[in-house]
Amino acid sequence: MTALVTASDLTIQYPEAPSPVVQNAAFSVETGEVFALVGPSGCGKSTILRALAGFIPYQGRLTMAGDAIAGSNWQRGVVFQNASLYPWLTVADNIGFGLKVRGFSRDAIQKRVTDLLETVGLSGQGEKKTFELSGGMRQRVAIARVLANEPPLMLMDEPFGALDAFTRARMQQLVLDIWKRRDTTVFLITHDLNEAIRCATHIAVMTASSHQITQIVPNPYQGCDPETVADPTLEQQIDTFRRDLLKAIDPTRD
Ligand SMILES: Nc1ncnc2c1ncn2[C@@H]1O[C@H](COP(=O)(O)OP(=O)(O)OP(=O)(O)O)[C@@H](O)[C@H]1O
Ligand SMILES: [Mg+2]
Repeated sequence: MTALVTASDLTIQYPEAPSPVVQNAAFSVETGEVFALVGPSGCGKSTILRALAGFIPYQGRLTMAGDAIAGSNWQRGVVFQNASLYPWLTVADNIGFGLKVRGFSRDAIQKRVTDLLETVGLSGQGEKKTFELSGGMRQRVAIARVLANEPPLMLMDEPFGALDAFTRARMQQLVLDIWKRRDTTVFLITHDLNEAIRCATHIAVMTASSHQITQIVPNPYQGCDPETVADPTLEQQIDTFRRDLLKAIDPTRD
C-alpha cells in the first residue's frame, strides 16, 4: 500500500479564533483504507476534513498523491450528514451533475447514472424529485453523486448521523460493498464507535486537548456488526477494543 494522503505539521486556525483548532498534526491514509476518524465533539474532526476537501486554508503539509491540496476538486468527493442535493433536479440529474460540468457526453452520463442507481439500490427512481425521497434515499443519492466522479478519495462527515438505526446499518453495509467493489479510499468521520468498528480498516483517534490525531490503530473487526454479533468470545473482544478506543479518546476516563 502507498500513502494517498499525507499530513505533517498540519495546523489550522479559523480567522477570528484565538488559537489553532488543529496543531502540528501528522497522519497518513493509505490507498484502499477506510480510515475512520473518531473523537469528542468540537475536537476538530470536521476541520481536518474541510482542509482535505480543500475548503479551508491550512499551514504545514497536506498532500494527496504527492500534490499539496489546494482548493476543492472532484478527486476528493464529500458526503455530509445532511445531503445537500439540488432540489430543482431529478435524482438522475443530481447524480450526473458533476459529469455534465466536466463535459461528459449525454450517453456516458446516462450509462454511469443507471449503474450508480443500481449500486445504491435506487434503480428505476432516477426521475423522482429529491423532495420525494426519505433521508436514507437522499444519502444514497449523495453517495452516488460523489461516486459518479470515481474519486480516488471519498470524504464522509458523519454521513449517517441523522438516520435511524436500521437505515444506518443498511447504509454502512452499502459503503462496505462499494468500498470492496470499487477499491476507493474512504475517510470517514463518525461519533459512533460501532460504525467505525464495522466499517473501518483503521481507526484514528483525536482528543479534545491535543489538537492532533494521537493514535491510528488497525481494526481487526471490519465487517462485524458489534450490535448483532452472536459469538460471546468475539463480543467480548470487540467490547475490549471499544473500551480501549474510548480510553484513547478520553484518557481521563476510568
Ligand atoms: N468556521 C469556523 N470559524 C471559527 N471556529 C470554528 C469554525 N468551524 C468550527 N470552529 C471551531 O473549531 C472547533 C472544531 O470544530 P469541528 O467542527 O472541526 O469539530 P468536530 O470534531 O467536527 O465536532 P463535531 O463532532 O461536533 O462535529 C470547534 O471549537 C468549533 O467551534
Ligand atoms: Mg464535525
